[in-house]
Amino acid sequence: MIHRVIVHAPSILSAPAKLNLGLEVLGKRPDGYHQIVTILQTIDLCDELEFQPAPQLAYESPFGTQDDLVARALHALAEEGVTVEARIVLRKRIPVAAGLGGGSSDAGTLLGLLAQAGLPRPLVDRIAQRLGSDVPFFLDGGTALARGRGTDLEPLPPPDGWFVIVVPEVRLAHKTPRLYAALTPDDFSDGTATLRQAERLKRRSGIDPRLVRNAFLRPLLSFGEVRRTLDAMAAAGARWAWPSGAGPAIFTWMCDEEQAEEVARGLAEHGFRTLVSAPLRPNWEHAARGIEVVTVL
Ligand code: C5P
Repeated sequence: MIHRVIVHAPSILSAPAKLNLGLEVLGKRPDGYHQIVTILQTIDLCDELEFQPAPQLAYESPFGTQDDLVARALHALAEEGVTVEARIVLRKRIPVAAGLGGGSSDAGTLLGLLAQAGLPRPLVDRIAQRLGSDVPFFLDGGTALARGRGTDLEPLPPPDGWFVIVVPEVRLAHKTPRLYAALTPDDFSDGTATLRQAERLKRRSGIDPRLVRNAFLRPLLSFGEVRRTLDAMAAAGARWAWPSGAGPAIFTWMCDEEQAEEVARGLAEHGFRTLVSAPLRPNWEHAARGIEVVTVL
C-alpha cells in the first residue's frame, strides 16, 4: 500500500516535552535494553513543527544535519511507502539531551499527527517503536504508565500542579546509553513504588513525592552541577527534587502555581535557568485539519 500525505493549509504543531514522574529500572533484558517502570507526563514546554504545502518533502532543522529523530521518522515513512508532500520546519524550545524527551517528542508528535490524519495506526506504531523507546508515548502524550522497554503504555489521568525544572550544564556524549551502562544491580528496584504512584493517579489522589524513584540518581550525582542544582532547589524551598529520565534535568512539583513561581524566582536569583511548566495533553486537531492522507492500493 502507498500513502500520500498532502498538506493543504499551513499549520503549526506543538511537540511537548515530558517528565518522568519516577523511573525504576528492574534489570537488564536479553535484547540489551533494560526493563523499566516509569510514569511519563507531557508538559507545556514545546518544540514547534511548522507545516507548509509543498510539491515534495523538504525538512529544515536547527541541527542542520539530516540525522535528527524527525529526519529518521521521515526516512522510515519513505521506506514504508509513505510520501510526505510538505515543507516541515522544526523550531527547538526544549533543552536538548536533558531527559525531557525533546527529540522523541518531535518525531512521536509528528507520527501522532499523521495517525490522526488517517495513516494506519499499526504502521505508525511500528515506526515509533523502531525510532526509540520514548517515541511511542508521544503518539498520544498525556500521562501514561510505561513498562517493558518503555513502550508498553497504559494511559493514566493527569496529576494537577506545577513543575519547576532546572537543566544543569552537564555535557556527556551518548548520555542515555552511557547512563544505562553505568547502572549496577544496587540501582535496580522492583517497580513497586512507581506502580503504587500510578494507582494514586488512577484514584486522582495526586503525586506522592515519597513514591518517586529514579535509578539514574546515583550515577548523576557524580556530576557536580547536578549536586549543585539539587542543593539550590532545596535552598529555594523545594521539599524534594528528582531527575527526569536519565537527566540531567531536575524537577520538583508543587500543588500551587504561586509557590512554584516563588521557588523558580529563588533559583533564578542564584543564576539557574529555571522553567515552570504544567501538565499538558497535546492536541493535533488544528494541524490535522490541513492534512490529507490518500491511500493507493
Ligand atoms: O530506545 P533508545 O534508542 O532511546 O535507547 C537508547 C539507548 O538507551 C539504548 O541503546 C540502550 O542502551 C539504552 N536503553 C536501555 N533500556 C531502555 C531504554 C534505553 O538500556 N529501556
